[in-house]
Formats: sequence, structure tokens, C-alpha cells
Amino acid sequence: MQTRYNDLVAKINQWDYEYYVLDNPSVADAEYDQVFRQLLEMEADNPELITPESPSQRVGAKPIDEFRKIEHTVKMLSLANAFSLEETFGFFEKAAKELELSPASLELFSEPKLDGLAISIHYEKGLLSYAATRGDGQVGEDVTHTIRTVKSVPLKLAIPNPPEKLDVRGEVFMPKAAFEKINRQAVQNDSKVFVNPRNAAAGTIRQMNPKIAAERDLQFIPYGLGEYEGEQQFTRHSEILAYLHRLGFRKNPHCYAFLGSFEAFEKNYQVMEQTREKLPMQIDGIVYKVDSLELQTALGFIARSPKWAVARKFPAENMVTQLLSVDFQVGRTGVLTPVARLEPVFVGGVTVSNATLHNMDEIERLGLGIGDSIEIQRAGDVIPKVVKVVATGTHRAPIVMPVRCPVCDAAVERTEGQAAFRCTGGLTCAAQGAERIKHYASRRFMNITNLGTKLIELLYSKGCLNTIADIYSLKLSDIADLEGQGEKSAQNVLASIDASKSTKLGTFLGALGIHEVGEEGAKSIAKYFKNLDAIAHASFEDLMQVPDIGPVMATNVVNFFKDEKNQAIIAKIIGAGVCWEDEANEPVKQQRLAGQTWVLTGTLQQMPRNEAKALLESLGAKVAGSVSKKTTCVVAGQDAGSKLANAQALGIKVLDETEFLAEFKLAD
Ligand code: IVH
Repeated sequence: MQTRYNDLVAKINQWDYEYYVLDNPSVADAEYDQVFRQLLEMEADNPELITPESPSQRVGAKPIDEFRKIEHTVKMLSLANAFSLEETFGFFEKAAKELELSPASLELFSEPKLDGLAISIHYEKGLLSYAATRGDGQVGEDVTHTIRTVKSVPLKLAIPNPPEKLDVRGEVFMPKAAFEKINRQAVQNDSKVFVNPRNAAAGTIRQMNPKIAAERDLQFIPYGLGEYEGEQQFTRHSEILAYLHRLGFRKNPHCYAFLGSFEAFEKNYQVMEQTREKLPMQIDGIVYKVDSLELQTALGFIARSPKWAVARKFPAENMVTQLLSVDFQVGRTGVLTPVARLEPVFVGGVTVSNATLHNMDEIERLGLGIGDSIEIQRAGDVIPKVVKVVATGTHRAPIVMPVRCPVCDAAVERTEGQAAFRCTGGLTCAAQGAERIKHYASRRFMNITNLGTKLIELLYSKGCLNTIADIYSLKLSDIADLEGQGEKSAQNVLASIDASKSTKLGTFLGALGIHEVGEEGAKSIAKYFKNLDAIAHASFEDLMQVPDIGPVMATNVVNFFKDEKNQAIIAKIIGAGVCWEDEANEPVKQQRLAGQTWVLTGTLQQMPRNEAKALLESLGAKVAGSVSKKTTCVVAGQDAGSKLANAQALGIKVLDETEFLAEFKLAD
């Protein structure tokens, strides 16, 4: 069994190596998955077999709760920068002079400067032991839990006699394609978009939860060694890189060995400038290093950087252009985002004619007007940004937020305290339409199993589904006539719409997609008010009484139900037969303690504290842990202390246990 287990581990590790390090897979996904499943089953049945290098052990079980500090045995240095050919050549001219050599006889090595995060990975006897960020160069943070999830980082070195100790130094980064993918997802989920791949990599490595890191496709490429105790000796930097590749690490693409003449630097830079756009990862320059380790030692360091290496940075990709106009785009949740339309300019290898302006606060901060000459920057970011106004335009026009939604003509409003302006069109705004319907039908909410996102988009684009209410008037032919659908699948869709009609109040409320009112918020509101009518007529103050509901949610709920179009849609849905059990069928008024906050303190003799709490909550009260001005009443048992004193100081009503039981007719 042990042999079979070792074989499975070795086999999957080899496949991972071929896929993630060599970019040369040798096995079909299905076979890979099948063997991986066998390994997982074997480990589940025989947990004693599990080894740290097993591919199942990349994602550790638990998230960490803080980053431990790790001291680097060999300091992690940084690099001096050069911004022109002259500066780069000058750097090595000086080094050559110190070595009493001519620059043109200096053997150099060039590597792409990967735009990510410096990491040191420590191996003990060939096994990954820990990984740390650079930190201040001396002490970094322990990120072993996320680095282990990076598939191009071997958990075990791929040679028979690994070194006793080894620090592999390199860059962890997010390839361009992976970056675009997570940002597409972020846009879909309305969550934070990363500005560039470096931030995305840093944010991922500094995740507490390794599961999240494992879902993002990070890569690691080494560029040197830290601590090293091994048999193999090196005379050149390029030998070290070749050795690291033999140990199972990826190779940095487009490295060149050359002699340090001015012309050679020039040629190298031209080649790299052209290669840059085609590379799968973002690079922000070229690192030039003296290849001989002996000469490196002879040159040594100055401050925190070596005298044998320099980073030639690509120039910042800034250009000046004119702001022609500003459009407002309406997103899924109704937020209006200003987008700058620009006189097209060529920057960072592409022609740019749009830039994001984020929100009106940003426009104000920049002091931007239509017709201005502006500087834009594209520093590896997907969407260029406006850096500053260079010159104000002669026929300048101010940028104004429209008062009506450009898509549905509903009023635009700003929620107090927020930067965003929103369309109030809600369920009727087409910009929010398809996404709202997807949200409504999704598994978490109405769970209309056969009405998937693709189908919703199709029906929406054909005009068969404009609002969520239209789901219930879909005809068999609306679906059956679509490409790729038949009568049978159309029947299934209609059947699943029917089956979804019986739901819960909280689920339905969440399905409506009221901004900021998620699954939990909707449940709390439903639990508190018990029926839709009460929610629809609740005031801001009423909603503020609901546990966990703040002013933003309360405002959004009030505005949503105030809107006649939304009312009509809801009426239509209910008319179509969507229903839920009226939670306890109790109107709000019967809740004797609705809106009150009670505090229990001291020891109750006749009733356990949790029962008293449950009783109060069942009558609609909120039970709080501390006394404040908002407290309605304090129940003071024996040995009540500071809470009782506080209540007395604030003049709040206090009941002792007997009075409390009498109040609710619970006394014998
Ligand atoms: S060599 C002692 N090589 O750039 C020199 N660094 O600005 C150690 N970097 O902290 C660095 N690609 O994170 C080296 N091919 C490369 C690199 C590289 C990216 C990063 C590294 C370093 C930073 C310095």
C-alpha cells in the first residue's frame, strides 16, 4: 500500500510539474482527476500515509489568524534602478572600472524584471519548510500557507540528493490571463477589482485563508539563492538558475548572456521592449547582473543593493491627451460610473480612448473639466487612469452627474455618506435588468434550477424577459424557439419556474436584489416583520429596529418599496402564484416588545438566562449585552453589578426577577 501511495503522489507531482513548470502537460484532465481522486480516497481511508509533499497537502486545512515574523538568514536585498541606456551602461562601466576590466569584456546576464512580490522559500533536506515575504529585507512575514498553494512551487525538490538547506529567492506573480479572469469575476460579483497584477498577487499571498489563494492562479519564478548548504558548487549566476530549474522550478523566459558593450545593452533593450507585450506575465523592466559569482563578491554591496546588478525600468506609460466627453455607465446595482472619452492615444502598446474616473469625488479631486488636456497612465493596469489635468481647455464644460438615469430615465440619487450615485429605476432599469434576473433566479434565492444565466441573457436580449415578473409569463414557445433549446428543455424550464413558486419570505426579499440587502439582511427583516405588507410599509425608524440593519439598508428598503414600478412588479409576481408561509402569521402589532431593547444582568433564580432571552426575543425585543440610552428595560437578578448601576444612573426602568415574571405572567 505504501508503495502504491508513493507512486500516486509521485505521478501527480510529475504531472503538476509538466503542467505548471514546463507548460507541457502529458495527461488528459479526466485521467488526472481520476488519479487525484484515488489519492484522496486512499488518504481518507489511511490518514497515516499522508506525507507533506502529497499534492493534496497544498491547501492546509485552516486559515491562519496572524502572520508570524520570519528572520532571513541571508538578507533580501533590493536593486538600484536605471531609467535610460546611458544610466544602465554607466552602472556597469563603473563596476568594470572597479574590477579593472573593460565594460565590453564583462559577462552579463539579463532577466525580465517580473512585476510581483519577492519571496524566499526555505527547503530543509529537499522539503519545503517555510516561505516568507521580503519585509524590510531582514525580517519578513510567514506566508507558507499561501505559497504552498502555488503549483509551480515544488513541495519536494526533484533531485535525489537535495541540499541540507536552501533558500530559493524569486518573484511570485499573477499571469496576465489570471489577473483578467479574477477581475472579470470581481466585476460580476460586484466585489473589489484589483488595479494591477502586482496588487492582485500581493493581496493573494497575504490572504489568511489558503483556499482563496489556491483558487487564484499564481506563479513563482526564482532569480537567485539565499542561504545555501549543499554539495553542488557554482561559479556563475546563470548556473544557479539552471540548477534551480533542475530542482523543479520554472525558468524566467527571455534571459540573455551578453558582453557589456553599449551596443549590446541597446540591442537587448530593444528586443525586450518588443517581447514585453507578448509575455504571459507583466514585467516592469530588465534586471542586468554580472554573471561571475567571483566578480559579484569582489564588487559587493552599497546600502541595500548589490553593485553587480541593476534594474533598468521601463518608462512609466504616461501620455497627454484631451478629455472629449464624460459618459455615465450604469452597473448591475444601479451605480453610475463616469467614463472619460479621450482623443485616442497610443500608450503602453495599445491605443486608448477611454479611462475610468471612478466617481464624482475623483473628478472633483482632479479638478477635471471637459476639453481639458489630461495626463493618463497605463502602468500595467487594465484600464488607464487619469493622473492630472495638464492644461485647462479653452471651451471648458463642467462634468455633471445626470439627474435621470441614461438607460431608464429614472431619477438618480446619492445615498448619504457614499461616493456613489445610483439609478432608482430598480427592477425596471434595463442596465440592471439581466443581472437582477440572474440574481433572482439563482440557487441562493428563488432557485429556478433550469433558468440559468445563459438562458436569462438570451431571453433578455430577445425582449422576452424585461423584469423578474416576466419570468412568470414566459411561454413555452419563447424558450423552445431559442437556438439550442427544444420543447423538452423548455418544458423543464417552465416546470422549474413553477416548482420555485413556493418559497420563504426572507428568500423572496433577498431575491428582489435591493441594494446592500443580502441574504442575511433579508432574513433578519423577514423574521422581524413576518409579512411582506409590513415590510413594504415599514418606515426608516421601523427598519432601524431590526437587529443588524443599519441606515443604508433601511434607506434602500424604504426607497425600493416606495417606487410604484417595483410595487407593480411585486404584485404581478404574487399574482402569478409566488407564495410563502406567513412566518407565524402574526402581524407586527401583536409583537408586544417590538422595537424595545432589554438587558439581562445578574443571576435569575427561576428561569435560566437564555430562556429569559428567548422569551423576550419571541415578543419582539432585542436583547443587548450592555446598557445604553437606547435600553428600554433592565432585568436585574441577584448580584447585579455595573449594568444595574448604569441603568439607575441613566434613569432606565429596572425590573427585579419577581417583577419580570409577573410582567409576563410567568410567576406561579
Ligand atoms: S534580483 C540582490 N531578478 O525586483 C538582487 N529581482 O527592485 C535580488 N525582481 O526585490 C533581486 N524580477 O522582487 C532580481 N529577475 C529578477 C527580478 C527581480 C523581479 C524584483 C525582486 C526585487 C525587486 C528589486
